[in-house]
Amino acid sequence: MTTTSPSEHQHQPEEEDGVPLRLDAYLRDRRLLIDQALQRFLPAPDRWPTKLHEAMHWALFGGGKRLRPVLALAAFEAVDHHRDRPYEAVLPAACAVEMIHTYSLIHDDLPAMDDDDERRGRPTTHVRYGEDLAILAGDALLTEALRLVLDRDAYRGGADATRIIEVGRTLAEAAGWRGMVGGQSTDLGHEGAVDSEEALTFLHRRKTGELFRYAAMAGATLADGSPEEVEALAEYGETLGLAFQVVDDLLDDEQDRRDGKPQAQEPSFPALLGLEESRRRAEQLHQRALSLLSPFGTSADPLRLLMTFAVERDH
Ligand code: IPE
Ligand code: IPE
Ligand code: MG
Ligand code: MG
Repeated sequence: MTTTSPSEHQHQPEEEDGVPLRLDAYLRDRRLLIDQALQRFLPAPDRWPTKLHEAMHWALFGGGKRLRPVLALAAFEAVDHHRDRPYEAVLPAACAVEMIHTYSLIHDDLPAMDDDDERRGRPTTHVRYGEDLAILAGDALLTEALRLVLDRDAYRGGADATRIIEVGRTLAEAAGWRGMVGGQSTDLGHEGAVDSEEALTFLHRRKTGELFRYAAMAGATLADGSPEEVEALAEYGETLGLAFQVVDDLLDDEQDRRDGKPQAQEPSFPALLGLEESRRRAEQLHQRALSLLSPFGTSADPLRLLMTFAVERDH
């Protein structure tokens, strides 16, 4: 197999020759960049502590959609419209959010949390490696993500130290009690009833929206975006995350109906608002996200495609 390094693999000619940008080609290409970079950044599975590294690889290379790191690349491309920065200037920050996302899923699947045996059609990390190692693999991915995002050398000179620190701090905030972990605590019912649209939106903005927000913010910041560009794209990312969750609820609801199951017990947009109103919410978020992109021109087309993917997917 021949592989190209991220630096050889700059921007796509098909995007420049006036051929319409295709979502599947874009996703395939950017996922490849992310996968190659993750392989580089992650310790090899045959290196001590081998069992732990094996469990980390199992979880990280398990067929995830890589939406968050692809969002970071797309935000980077939207701001860097002259296309003169190498992807190295953003890849560590993009891979770091995928590590955090993966850790969150390992812990989310544990018996003490959602108690799931399968993810993406394969055994979950604790089923395959045991609960103790799964907890540690999650811990190691979380700490490695924070090390990586702050590792100046990993950006190969492409990013400035002040921007790296700002991105690293934002990732820690998005992952912790202010963001994903706080959202998980709310989702598990520890922080009071989630019985209104407002409460459900609050939950999803934290559980999912904050990591999406970080991804877009990191891409824009590392492309040297102005404060206005960074804020618009960060808000775009959060809106995308929320739309993704509304659609997730709609798809779950449709699946339950097909399976003849009773409506899920967990709070969801269809349960609170009904199907029609939930579809309207997804469409409103779509429009809001597109309006945030209007100052960006065609360099933001990949971001437009990602939004379409989030709201029009069927699984
Ligand atoms: C699943 O996220 C968990 C949520 C926050 C809804 P994704 O759907 O992005 O998961 P993978 O990584 O692609 O499987
Ligand atoms: C996944 O959430 C974990 C995080 C978002 C942190 P869910 O429990 O809602 O998603 P699935 O169904 O396990 O992917
Ligand atoms: Mg959960
Ligand atoms: Mg779960």
